Amino acid sequence: MEATIVSDKNKHYPVLLKEVISVISPQHGGTFIDCTFGQGGYSKEILKFNNSKVIGLDRDINSESIAKKIQDKFPNRLLFKNSKFSKINNLKLKDEDIKGIVFDLGYSFTQIKDEKKGLSFNSTGELNMMMGQNEFSASKVINNLEAQEIEKILKYFGDESDAKLIAKNIAKERKIKKIDTQSLVKIIEKSKRKKNYKIHSATKSFQALRIFVNKEISELIIGLMQSVKILKKNGVLAVVTFHSLEDKIVKYFFKSITENKSISRYEPKLEQKKIFFKMPLKKPIVPSNKEVQENPTSRSAKLRYIIKQEDVYEIESDISDKFSDLLEIENFGLKL
Ligand SMILES: C[S@@+](CC[C@H](N)C(=O)[O-])C[C@H]1O[C@@H](n2cnc3c(N)ncnc32)[C@H](O)[C@@H]1O
Repeated sequence: MEATIVSDKNKHYPVLLKEVISVISPQHGGTFIDCTFGQGGYSKEILKFNNSKVIGLDRDINSESIAKKIQDKFPNRLLFKNSKFSKINNLKLKDEDIKGIVFDLGYSFTQIKDEKKGLSFNSTGELNMMMGQNEFSASKVINNLEAQEIEKILKYFGDESDAKLIAKNIAKERKIKKIDTQSLVKIIEKSKRKKNYKIHSATKSFQALRIFVNKEISELIIGLMQSVKILKKNGVLAVVTFHSLEDKIVKYFFKSITENKSISRYEPKLEQKKIFFKMPLKKPIVPSNKEVQENPTSRSAKLRYIIKQEDVYEIESDISDKFSDLLEIENFGLKL
């Protein structure tokens, strides 16, 4: 008889942990960068291998105290920086022997539970959503941007089909009173034309705002571009995504640096760029049924990875052009 798996709702589960460790192979030693340190779930597992080292990054200062405890357990083998991963270049790692770089995107269990961060639609008080090292809060966005700009954020970052109506109602309501988390939830609920019984009415809009406030599109694009430069030969870049927008960006980027565009025989011969990475699996690795049962939020996680085949620093990709429309939307934040 199969044992029933009970999910502990108060526990942090590192997603796809076994799978991530298996693709980056820390058992052979070397230095690994954990770009989204969080609770240190991946870092701790890497450090269990005696000749491994970790450089952990997180934009949230709360990760620092967690890192200190792990440093006590594994002396001199963990360096933690409270930094955004788009700033990975500041670490000057060009000549280091970097064997693996991991991203586990989005927010952590601890962050969503933190009332002050206001990431959840159950939070009370001011709209915040800042994960750390931000320039503006969600309150600034909702209470100051033009209705058309809010509409685009909700539509393109959250795939919200009622974006227009929600934005119109936000613009109307904020004339009367400043909008906070719970009043935003009410506006969204009122604006939704059809009730979705699978997800909360505010899920998509909250996701969109979080992505916008934390500039997650440019963070990801810059983080990926920097990572492929500093990896050494045979080094692995592994990325866990949680929603289709992130996955689309990672998938496109990996394709753009592992394949040459196919050239039609009727077209003049174009210069082919050199390929320095390989992608062993075209399809993403997803959590097992057991993991989803234990940690239901893992169900939308996808792990993709690539392996560097030569020591080169300059890598070409047209990723910024490909997603220029999303980057333009992100720039609405410049006036806040
Ligand atoms: C899903 S959690 C990672 C959990 C981690 N793998 C673990 O097992 O504990 C994502 C973490 O990434 C951090 N983060 C998100 N965007 C970031 C960015 N641009 N730069 C640095 N850290 C970021 C968040 O603050 C959060 O702590």
